[in-house]
Amino acid sequence: MSIAACAGGPDAQRARERHDVHSFARPDQVRVTHVVLNLLLDFDKKEVRGAATLSLARADLSAPLVLDAMGLVIEEVTPGSNNEFIHGLSRTTCPFTLGPPQPNLGQAVIISLPPEADYDTVCVTYRSAPNAAALQWLAPEQTHDQVAPFLYTQGQAILTRSWIPLQDSPGVRVTYSASVRAPAGLTVLMSAQAKGRHADGAFLFEMDKPVPPYLIALACGKLAFSPIGERCGVWAEPGLLARAARELEDTERMLLACEGVFGLYRWGRYDVLVLPPAFPFGGMENPTLTFATPTILAGDKSLVGLIAHELAHSWSGNLVSNATWRDFWLNEGFTVFLENRIMEVVYGEDRAAMELLLGLEELEGELKVLPPSDQVLHIDLAGRNPDDNMTAVPYEKGAAFLHRLQQVFGRPTFDAFLHSYFDAHAFTSITTADFLAYLDQNLLRADPGKAAQVDVARWVRAPGLPSDVVRPSHPAFAELEGKRQHWLAGSLSTADLGAAAWITQLWLRFLNGLPEQVDHSKLAELDAAYGLTTSGNSEIFVAWAVIALRNGIAAVDAPVEQFLLNVGRRKYLKPLYETLAKTPSGKARAQAIYHKARPRYHAVAVRTLDELLQDKGV
Ligand code: BES
Ligand code: ZN
Repeated sequence: MSIAACAGGPDAQRARERHDVHSFARPDQVRVTHVVLNLLLDFDKKEVRGAATLSLARADLSAPLVLDAMGLVIEEVTPGSNNEFIHGLSRTTCPFTLGPPQPNLGQAVIISLPPEADYDTVCVTYRSAPNAAALQWLAPEQTHDQVAPFLYTQGQAILTRSWIPLQDSPGVRVTYSASVRAPAGLTVLMSAQAKGRHADGAFLFEMDKPVPPYLIALACGKLAFSPIGERCGVWAEPGLLARAARELEDTERMLLACEGVFGLYRWGRYDVLVLPPAFPFGGMENPTLTFATPTILAGDKSLVGLIAHELAHSWSGNLVSNATWRDFWLNEGFTVFLENRIMEVVYGEDRAAMELLLGLEELEGELKVLPPSDQVLHIDLAGRNPDDNMTAVPYEKGAAFLHRLQQVFGRPTFDAFLHSYFDAHAFTSITTADFLAYLDQNLLRADPGKAAQVDVARWVRAPGLPSDVVRPSHPAFAELEGKRQHWLAGSLSTADLGAAAWITQLWLRFLNGLPEQVDHSKLAELDAAYGLTTSGNSEIFVAWAVIALRNGIAAVDAPVEQFLLNVGRRKYLKPLYETLAKTPSGKARAQAIYHKARPRYHAVAVRTLDELLQDKGV
């Protein structure tokens, strides 16, 4: 691979690669290094308010401090010093201005600092907007137990700025501590080490490892805890706790599996918080405390690959983070790769191979519809919302690239490479160029013959899927293919499919491979035999519901509506609404359901669905 010659030399090139187009901050001039939060959660006003005290590293004493904010009301900024002895009580306020609001990004907060070097902290007093994008305030009815309200935050990608004023770029890592007050009876959790309670009742936290701001997370509700291992446990509403703990009982084994290959787990505890169903994602890898959707609780551990994924982020994503959102594939592609390895160790080669194939097929499906510029790992996101890059490309194409490297260099060599990669970059944020340089020096150079077998530049910078993609086959999938054909042709009866014994991954493969139009009576028979409409497995239910809606199986109508009103996971909402909206009458139904459900969805899901369902002033 050749690195293109660039104006300004390698340093300028490096600086350009690290520049984050999704942040107003100028960390090269003044950088936030530590945050002390002192917050109150006001459920009545739907407002987080208090103060963020920011420690600064000032490379340029004449430069202002620039923060990111989205909808925050900044009340006051006061300068401070870690050397209080010098400045004593002679505090004034720091003048600040707000930049013009920009779509997706919010606005800059530009704070003038006194020129003296020992002014190295500022205290920002602020409150969040009631519609802050990172915050979802849930009414008791939206929770499992329906007895108390609930609040959680979602920082990734650029939403932390809607509840904390800071330099919201994944390249600007911070340590932090927090003191958070909440209504009596509610528990506050953060993605940090819990430090007990203050005498005034505040919950105390500390994160002593530098983390990117998108990983600062908080949740508050009526919560209970169940240990499931030495370092692992589950938090959930009391009525859901036993079910959640059973489903996730293998988490410690997953942790050991990942440590065994990629190096020690460096975050202390690993707990999972099972959120109410409005959570717009499957999971979010908040350090020490993964946030997860309750839709993974299938009862048979068939969907715990998601926990393997979020856990794997403790290495790829949290220990080594993408420096900008262009480099998102470094987080997700590596994590899908690690996730599959964990699944192989804990649940065996069969399950891992099936999940790998499902991922590859999902990618191939998406590559058919994505514009070429969105099929590139090192994607250009200037002027766009980083959320637009949440496609199978960074995830599955990223992982496929690593599978190809593993195939060429062999597993033991590639394992050792990844292990050393995590160690060498621990607690830093890196760019695609940083990774490629490390790859070149630590893997490719040692064996030019092998290196010549992987067109790295093509994998990283070109659209589509290179022809050397590793395409494992699985006998059960091949057999299933045959059965599906015979069943569709009428030469195999529904009973003879033998589907009662199918694991979830076989069902998904079977359903995903059905043509758009399937004979109505066949589908009705399948449903009658295997209870798909009443499936408690969210993946199977959604895959089935899409087919059933498309083919006019009326039995799914009511359960689909129920599901859409209850579940806020975007991955499910999108195909369901999309399929409904394909016919004029279906579109009217979709809009009616959406109208009711919209106030219950998180802002990130609303953004996607508004685009899908609202007529744009035609
Ligand atoms: N970090 C992501 C979730 C995310 C990505 C949130 C980008 C906001 C912006 C998380 O690790 C993830 O990938 N979750 C997936 C599940 C996973 C098994 C592929 C999800 O939520 O669907
Ligand atoms: Zn992920």
